[in-house]
Amino acid sequence: MLRKLHSALEPALHFPPAPPGLPAMHDPTPGSSGALPPSSSSAVRSLLVVYHSQTGATLQMAQALVDGARDAEPGLGVRLLHASAAHAGDVLAAQAYVFATPENLGAISGLMKDFFDRTYYPALDQINGRACALLVCAGSDGHNAARQMQRIATGWRLKPVAEPLIVCTHAQTPEQILAPKQLDAPALQQCRELGAALATGLVMGIY
Ligand SMILES: Cc1cc2nc3c(=O)[nH]c(=O)nc-3n(C[C@H](O)[C@H](O)[C@H](O)COP(=O)(O)O)c2cc1C
Repeated sequence: MLRKLHSALEPALHFPPAPPGLPAMHDPTPGSSGALPPSSSSAVRSLLVVYHSQTGATLQMAQALVDGARDAEPGLGVRLLHASAAHAGDVLAAQAYVFATPENLGAISGLMKDFFDRTYYPALDQINGRACALLVCAGSDGHNAARQMQRIATGWRLKPVAEPLIVCTHAQTPEQILAPKQLDAPALQQCRELGAALATGLVMGIY
């Protein structure tokens, strides 16, 4: 798993140009202006997990990731915050991020959008190079929500440690979509493993 994450990391280190519609960033290399390097490996590190969930599935993904991270690295600070409770100060205080959203109407959920709307500019240029992972829970697709969060993460100059993890519930009817969800063990195990790999990489100073 870690080897897969390391190779996923390589292209992200080049800090590609900002996508259309998002502001250009400063060069984050040491000595350049306006950007902080990733935190040093000796500093106390913490992982911030921000989620929204309407019928419980995305929360289960985020909680499984948190459990995996805490089991792998009990000394790491891991915070799980609902999107409506997360603020720019929480973003600035963490050294790595997981953003977890349902896909609603072909997009990230409204409360996740609100979180990014409130925190994007206050955190801009102050979190360059920090690690992130993305979780999406969808009925049958999830790719557009993943793309939206990838664009935001690129704008923030975060380092994606893996491809977005998308889990589909296969809910089809309005009744199924609105019902409380229980994800299966393999899906939750994927989230646990991602959390463990992210936490280990963070503590080892890889990220
Ligand atoms: C208003 C609404 C819109 C949705 N739109 C999509 C969609 O565009 N694509 C998709 O794959 N699933 C869609 N879904 C299904 C949810 O993504 C799915 O039920 C997911 O499990 C919700 O996660 P949650 O349990 O954390 O709320 C939608 C659900 C709702 C309530």
